[in-house]
Amino acid sequence: MAGKKLKVMSVFGTRPEAIKMAPVVLELSKHSEEIEPIVAVTAQHREMLDQVLNLFQLKPNYDLNIMSAGQTLFDITSRALLGLNEVLTDAKPDIVLVHGDTTTAFAGALAAYYHQIAVGHVEAGLRTGNKFSPYPEEMNRRLTGSLADMHFAPTKTSEENLLRENVSAENIFVTGNTVIDALHATVKKDFKFEDELLQKIDYENKKIILLTTHRRENLGEPMRHVYKAMKKIVGEFSEVEIVFPVHKNPKVREVVDSELGGLEQVHLIDPLDYEPFANLMSRTNLILTDSGGIQEEAPSLGKPVIVLRDTTERPEAVAAGTVKLVGTALDDVYNATKILLTDADEYSKMSEACNPYGDGLAAKRIVQALLWKYNFSNQPPEIFQP
Ligand code: UD1
Ligand code: UDP
Repeated sequence: MAGKKLKVMSVFGTRPEAIKMAPVVLELSKHSEEIEPIVAVTAQHREMLDQVLNLFQLKPNYDLNIMSAGQTLFDITSRALLGLNEVLTDAKPDIVLVHGDTTTAFAGALAAYYHQIAVGHVEAGLRTGNKFSPYPEEMNRRLTGSLADMHFAPTKTSEENLLRENVSAENIFVTGNTVIDALHATVKKDFKFEDELLQKIDYENKKIILLTTHRRENLGEPMRHVYKAMKKIVGEFSEVEIVFPVHKNPKVREVVDSELGGLEQVHLIDPLDYEPFANLMSRTNLILTDSGGIQEEAPSLGKPVIVLRDTTERPEAVAAGTVKLVGTALDDVYNATKILLTDADEYSKMSEACNPYGDGLAAKRIVQALLWKYNFSNQPPEIFQP
């Protein structure tokens, strides 16, 4: 390979993939002597993707613009696959990098495989072991892993999952999670919110709960229970304010409006750009979420997280004690929240900062691994150790 530049195409489509691939794309572009970086977005998300592209100043070479309101898994998979066929035919990369567990990631890996192009899987090896939880992400990640040639596992636990599935050790690189690279570049002590509402919140004297929900398996009744629990909490604790950046999915919005609309202590806002969101996380007391990425970010900011899911593919923070798996039953969510609002010992146990997911150097290790694998360097990447 040495002599000719390595063409590395990064494929992504949703907000979290963009946040977590941005550090990789930026790192790839620092190696312009050896690497030609190409970016293809499916735009499975539109506004929520564009927010991240703007923040990190990423300019895609290809944009499939596939999003439609209320899209199904069939819509996303078929549009991404057909679109990527053309992109790969045109760009002819040496390797395609995909991220995590979205349908874009799976379609990207499948399209590359159909073209017999190598696949690198960033954030490989996370598992719940339950194919319907999270749905369809658990299978998206496993199927992407089956198609991958290089597996960038964020932690030792994810590496062990891959080894158990007979992935060859020489193709696994434990790098840390790139989300921590992005977080380090974004959270600042003196950050000032542009948004008037976020500026005005009394972070010193109020207890701020940050809430996000979007998982497909939580749509409808499970989300309704969570919102009812929050309604009960604000009814009981006058010092609590909830900030809830509501996902763009209309199926989420309907239930949110009917349960939490019009409550003075609940601020329903549009999804925040990553920069204000990350800085808001660093100022809240408590986070309730069904997000994957937020479970990884919060421990390094020392914020307790109540996870609104029955399973997690991110057991490291549960083991460290900063994250609690609570599910979505009204009483469970209410009780877990109440404990953290009233029991100072419990709160301080859960708010000890720790970094099981990364040290900010994951993207560097991923690019080192690529240069090593393709004989541009004889230096294998160092292994991430928390
Ligand atoms: C997707 C991913 C999920 C990831 C999540 C991150 C799949 C199957 N799901 O789920 O793994 O955790 O993104 O947020 O890959 N919408 C907009 N504008 C946007 C984004 C979404 O209007 O910028 C609306 C559209 O109506 C869209 C709907 O949200 O149809 C759902 O988007 P979709 O990507 O299908 O599902 P997510 O729940 O966002
Ligand atoms: N995030 C954001 N704005 C928001 C909510 C979340 O920028 O209003 C960021 C968050 O910091 C994390 C990522 O989006 O990095 C998580 O995305 P999401 O919860 O949509 O997806 P998941 O991680 O569950 O796949």
